[in-house]
Amino acid sequence: MFEEARAEDVDLIIKGGRIFTPAGFVDGCIGVEGGKIAAIGKEAHLPKAERTIDAAEKLVLPGMVDLHVHFRDPGSPEREDFCTGTSAAAAGGVTTIMDMPNTIPPTVSGEAFREKRTTGEARAVVDFAICGGVGVKSIGNVLEIAREGATAFKTFMTSRFEELFSGNDATLLTILREVSQSALPCFIHAEDQAITAAELHKLKRAGRLDPMAHTESRPPIAEAHGALRALSLANEAGARLHICHTSTPEAMEYASWSKNRHQPVTVETCPQYLLLTHDLMAKRGPYAKVDPPLRSESSRRKMWDMFVQGQIDTLGSDHAPYAVKEKDMGWSDIFEAPSGSPGVETTLPLMLDCVSRGLLSIERLVQAFSQAPARMTRLFPLKGSLQIGADADIVIVDMKKERTIRGDSLHSKQKYSLFEGWTCKGWPVLTVLRGMVVADDGEIVMKPGYGKFLRPC
Ligand code: DOR
Ligand code: ZN
Ligand code: ZN
Repeated sequence: MFEEARAEDVDLIIKGGRIFTPAGFVDGCIGVEGGKIAAIGKEAHLPKAERTIDAAEKLVLPGMVDLHVHFRDPGSPEREDFCTGTSAAAAGGVTTIMDMPNTIPPTVSGEAFREKRTTGEARAVVDFAICGGVGVKSIGNVLEIAREGATAFKTFMTSRFEELFSGNDATLLTILREVSQSALPCFIHAEDQAITAAELHKLKRAGRLDPMAHTESRPPIAEAHGALRALSLANEAGARLHICHTSTPEAMEYASWSKNRHQPVTVETCPQYLLLTHDLMAKRGPYAKVDPPLRSESSRRKMWDMFVQGQIDTLGSDHAPYAVKEKDMGWSDIFEAPSGSPGVETTLPLMLDCVSRGLLSIERLVQAFSQAPARMTRLFPLKGSLQIGADADIVIVDMKKERTIRGDSLHSKQKYSLFEGWTCKGWPVLTVLRGMVVADDGEIVMKPGYGKFLRPC
């Protein structure tokens, strides 16, 4: 009798919260056994547990899935590494990340891919997927990288990262054909190289080195035309295209047109394109420099509406830290500073604040920042959902908690934020990964190396 009862016990029960299930919110408990969700229901119907977490008056959401981070590891540990990057993720309610390929070395070969996997396995605090990289010279490596367990590929239409540059239309078409053979989605940085190079040249000749020159060097048409080219070629190649960090309604129009023709296309945007405008360039200079650049208020507003309406599929942070001394190079000449800013820790609180203000539904948020990213990388239903059999990746959120974003209290190695001074209402207070607490009220309580490498299911 005693033995039988023991067999029914679970490792952990999270009780008292409002649980976000595929069928909607349920007031009840989650039972976790062996790192997986074993039961969801009323407390009276649940088995006994060794440990209990009280989530009274809190929301219990699936862990967030951020498919767009640059953790700089291996190669640039002074900027970020897998430990600090995944710590920032955990503190921000993100339990799964996918790391972008522009590390040193870039993940354009099986060998570089394996090196990053080993790096992550030694240092990650949350689970991680790795994005393979492909450029003109590495097309022949795509299938090997896919076999290593890549969740997606990324290529860049701008030449900033030489080994990841997709080249001209003919080479991009070849890349897309090869990636479609792997059945993985092709992520794309869709800013047109010819247009951005020409604009940059004009501005430099005119002696423009001020922060707004960065914005002007990458006009909306560069993104819209890049997206149009990529969509057309992906259609021909039969590739699944995912347009990263979409910042303009102009690019969205082309993506929506392709979707209406049932082309397999998904679109990502980031909090900075939903909440900030290029006015920030004047105030923050190089610290507001990101690619694509921050846009006008009218663009931002249209992007917000499309996000709320579900035309934008996923939210990613584009967490891209640089050292302060690299950023500071841009004060006298904006083109001397690298583009990018940390963001993985603030994405969820910024969006929860929008929920608090009645601008966004919690359902849309979870869909865009957990379910949809997990689905498109075939990590669903292990990730991205609170259902029986899924990994017990859970973020407990306190919608009453108010806190102001301060770069120096975040976990990234870089102590600045695009959202410095923003007060958010709604914060993750406990992050659970495969049944274990990894972050408790902003404090990392799990050892590096707990995070597991993820390949598509
Ligand atoms: O702002 C950006 N930063 N855009 C990119 O495309 C790359 C990223 C980085 O890795 O720094
Ligand atoms: Zn990019
Ligand atoms: Zn990026």
